[in-house]
Amino acid sequence: MTDTAQSQQAQRGKQEEAHLILPAAEVDAGTLRFATADDTERALCIGAFNVAVPEDLDVRAGLDFCRTFYKPGTGDPADRHRGHREHGHPASKLGYEDRPDQVEQLQLESFLWQEYLPDEVTAVLRRMRQLTLDVLYGVFDAAWVPEADRDLITGGAPQDTGLCYTTVNHYRAGLSDRAGIVEHSDSGFITTICTDQPGYEILHEGHWLPVRERPGHFTVNLGDAFRVLTRKLPRPVTAVYHRVPELRPDAGVPDRSSFTVYMGPRYDMPLYQYDTEGRLREYQSFRDFSVEKAGKLGYDFHSRV
Ligand SMILES: [Fe+2]
Repeated sequence: MTDTAQSQQAQRGKQEEAHLILPAAEVDAGTLRFATADDTERALCIGAFNVAVPEDLDVRAGLDFCRTFYKPGTGDPADRHRGHREHGHPASKLGYEDRPDQVEQLQLESFLWQEYLPDEVTAVLRRMRQLTLDVLYGVFDAAWVPEADRDLITGGAPQDTGLCYTTVNHYRAGLSDRAGIVEHSDSGFITTICTDQPGYEILHEGHWLPVRERPGHFTVNLGDAFRVLTRKLPRPVTAVYHRVPELRPDAGVPDRSSFTVYMGPRYDMPLYQYDTEGRLREYQSFRDFSVEKAGKLGYDFHSRV
């Protein structure tokens, strides 16, 4: 092998190394399965993994909506595809937000999807919510969180009486000198993410690493509520620190789109934590925790919550 070929190969090897490949799982008849026990361990340790998109779930309506929700309304009140910048979403405590990074986003609680979103988007999100619940309970199993405690901890996630919402993201590559999305951990238990292009990075062992896309899979993030809950248990869960760096406009490539389904405690509930003897304790109100976190990161907490 010539010196040049050798250095090219070394370079390629380096590029390979500089990516993170997440463990992969699937949900089979409602049960989360990783290929190996080691993958389960890695998923809890990284705080992120891939989960296969179920065969009966077509994500296209969700991604299409990411490309229209911010456009001016047509004047037709029945058209829920556009006009969400101006809408106001009075029934929601979340709603539209023009963030200081490249993202503009729409966040809506699950009980409002039908009212505010196109029917085909609501259908996608409901299926994704079921998947997210199955995955959440699979991670509870993996982290040895007793079944009897899960309703209390989640505020009744299976009955959808906890906090479940979607976030629909438009990454405005035309806005320069700002991050795609600033580094953060998610606050709840779990977020399932569907995206149409790379960009997602994870802080792993002190280094920011781009995550290799796994076609046909969602990315799942585990968040602060899980970290707090399991910190003193034998198998603690990491709240993954993640970001998207600044995206550059690229002729012929549409802006990055992503949409997510999030599950966490309601803001009127406590975060819980197991002590070293495995007893469940109230840790802090989730609202206080969220306000404190927003203060540390220098952003305003939702004014309506
Ligand atoms: Fe996030």
